[in-house]
Amino acid sequence: MTDRQRALLRGDMEQVVGRLRREETSVAPYREDYRRLLDNHGKMIRAALLLLFGRAGAPAASGPLGPDSPLVTGAAAIEMLHLATLVHDDVLDDADTRRGRPTVHTTRGNKAAIYLGDLILSRYMEIMASIAPDTAFIREQAGTVCEIVGGELLQESARGDTAVTRAYYERAIRGKTAALFRLAATTGVKLGTSDPSPDLLAAAHDFGEHLGMAFQIIDDIGDFDVAHESGKPKLEDIRERIYTLPVILGLESDPAFAQVLESDDPAEVLAYLQAHPSLVDGAKDGARSQLSQARQALDGAPIAPGVSRLLDRLAARLSAQV
Ligand code: IPE
Ligand code: MG
Ligand code: MG
Repeated sequence: MTDRQRALLRGDMEQVVGRLRREETSVAPYREDYRRLLDNHGKMIRAALLLLFGRAGAPAASGPLGPDSPLVTGAAAIEMLHLATLVHDDVLDDADTRRGRPTVHTTRGNKAAIYLGDLILSRYMEIMASIAPDTAFIREQAGTVCEIVGGELLQESARGDTAVTRAYYERAIRGKTAALFRLAATTGVKLGTSDPSPDLLAAAHDFGEHLGMAFQIIDDIGDFDVAHESGKPKLEDIRERIYTLPVILGLESDPAFAQVLESDDPAEVLAYLQAHPSLVDGAKDGARSQLSQARQALDGAPIAPGVSRLLDRLAARLSAQV
């Protein structure tokens, strides 16, 4: 069962890549940049989440998805929303590389990055509107974009604040990252069946949100993992005075760490974290706890067993990183 579901997922993901390739913009000056951005997709974890929850409530015998099916279209759109936030994020964070390549603003300037991010965001909305089963679906999409922006703004208002708390950090990442994972999962349920069960929707909501929390904590730990190439610059958060979980745990346990942070020297902060491995370990515990809550959300949920196992593997893949 799982093997069949895995083969189906692989085929569905190829359809999503194909859908992204067929995407084009009518805004002539940015046609090629738009293409390049959509071709250089990442691991598409949000698309996988949408597709899996799309199959979770469907009859076990369902076959491969067609290129224009609502699930393939929705999964491509969710990746576009993600991409739009990244193009803008790299301007705000002044990051040079993304997915192993120079960022748009470094090669084409801020103006192009802002227009391109806006273009991708509007196409995401247009595509989602074209497959929306009802207005509540659109409201959830738009409301989640507001949550993402709200999370980013929360993070922004704590920049450089050595009194930032773990609860504050969790609120910010719930908005900027977990909300999108949650949206991918619930969108899958809504596009997969015409009359989704409340239990399945609740499982998608909780699994998506906890997986997203774990994902961001792991991403934030990775920013300090200078030995491991990720296609993104390292020590970026500390350079930007954004204090993530390992740093917050350090501030909670040793007030003197604030002076190290205020020295604004990323190498010193890194040296401190390396000398106090319990801080990164504590952050890893935080990620593991989110992953175990994600897995719990699957217990007893009305999810086809093969799909449930694949969702569990998605969580296990993140677990392997901590
Ligand atoms: C990415 O956030 C943007 C959103 C989640 C909206 P980060 O700035 O923390 O992520 P990376 O490290 O650049 O990918
Ligand atoms: Mg950022
Ligand atoms: Mg960033």
